[in-house]
Amino acid sequence: MKNILPSPLQFKKNKLTFDGVLLESIAQKLPTPFYLYSQKTLDSYFKSFTQSAKAHKINNPLVCYAVKANSNIEVLKRLKDLGSGADVVSVGELKKAIKAGIPPEKIVFSGVAKTKDEILFALKCGKSGIYSFNVESIEELILINDLAKSIKKKARVAFRLNPQVHAKTHKHISTGNKTHKFGLLKADIQEAVAVTEFWTHTNLVGLSVHIGSQLTDMKATVSAIKELANLALDINLPIEFLDVGGGLGIDYTHKERSKLASIDYYMQTVSMALEQFYFSKSSILIKPRIVFEPGRILVGKMGVLVSRVVRTKTSDNCHFTIIDAGMNDLIRPALYEAHHEVLPATKSAKLITTDIVGPICETADCFGTKRKLPSLTSGDLVVIDNAGAYGRTMASNYNERSLAAEIFFR
Ligand code: LLP
Repeated sequence: MKNILPSPLQFKKNKLTFDGVLLESIAQKLPTPFYLYSQKTLDSYFKSFTQSAKAHKINNPLVCYAVKANSNIEVLKRLKDLGSGADVVSVGELKKAIKAGIPPEKIVFSGVAKTKDEILFALKCGKSGIYSFNVESIEELILINDLAKSIKKKARVAFRLNPQVHAKTHKHISTGNKTHKFGLLKADIQEAVAVTEFWTHTNLVGLSVHIGSQLTDMKATVSAIKELANLALDINLPIEFLDVGGGLGIDYTHKERSKLASIDYYMQTVSMALEQFYFSKSSILIKPRIVFEPGRILVGKMGVLVSRVVRTKTSDNCHFTIIDAGMNDLIRPALYEAHHEVLPATKSAKLITTDIVGPICETADCFGTKRKLPSLTSGDLVVIDNAGAYGRTMASNYNERSLAAEIFFR
């Protein structure tokens, strides 16, 4: 499964270019660090995703982009133009998705801690509220029912199943087991379906599952779909959709590239699993549509973090390249020991071994140890690759630093 995912970065005559334009010229008048996103790359991932769903005969697919991955308004507007819906986890994300023009009837609301105010806001969106509240506890279902009653509406809800499968990914981003706070166990959902007072002002319109992020191996995805299908078959009610979540990973490292499931392989897997475990067995006449909640796969590769070298430093035999981007701008290496390639704006045959570190007063503020880079000096540009997902959205003001600007390159 060799899978070279398109990237906006390319070296031309040893100079780094972004969408074919010299990075040095893009960065000339911009204060660093800043995030740079490629519309062209975003388009190509969204189109690959939807075209592949079509090619694998996924039933009436709805892509609800996971806003948490990148909530830049231009990115959201572009995704809306491409036909995307949204998966949101807070009223802030919901408002931003609506501001970008994404219709409420294409928005699902996930998350374990939806508050009264958030639920009321979502119920009042558009003509008939959002597409679905993906419910993660019975307490939440009762609250949604009560709030819908109080404003004389009916809420559209789906249960998020906790399928008890182990996704092979970093423990911080694995969500499909009962030790995780996410979703409901099958037995609890089956029980709730039968309690009539939970359903006076709610309609069960779907079932969902999401087992984790940066998934490269599809085995757990198949198991999760099997569990979702079994639940749908047991409940045996006409539902409008099955939501298979997000999670498809990208290649941050060369090693990941060789074992990564491509978009096409993912769609084929999902399609076959749905057919085998659900469509071939269900007696319900109207087929549910399939909802996806991709985040990283759509935006991860389109973005980079552009930074400049502040200075270099040696400490005995350790060499540090100190850059002006820090863990407050991109926390993934510090939080998940995630690998991001660091590229110089100008390639050189002569390389040194160096640790690329930021300005924050934490030893974890390190983008990579023992990397091979040219010997850089103050003011030189570097780029941290594959930073379009969970980069700027997880940034903070730690150390009283400003949030990095975002440039949407068209
Ligand atoms: N749906 C739900 C309910 C989710 O919780 C998530 C991500 C997604 C969809 C989208 O997952 P994706 O397709 O992007 O993998 N900050 C971490 C990732 C956290 C993911 C949280 N949930 C990171 O930087 O790796």
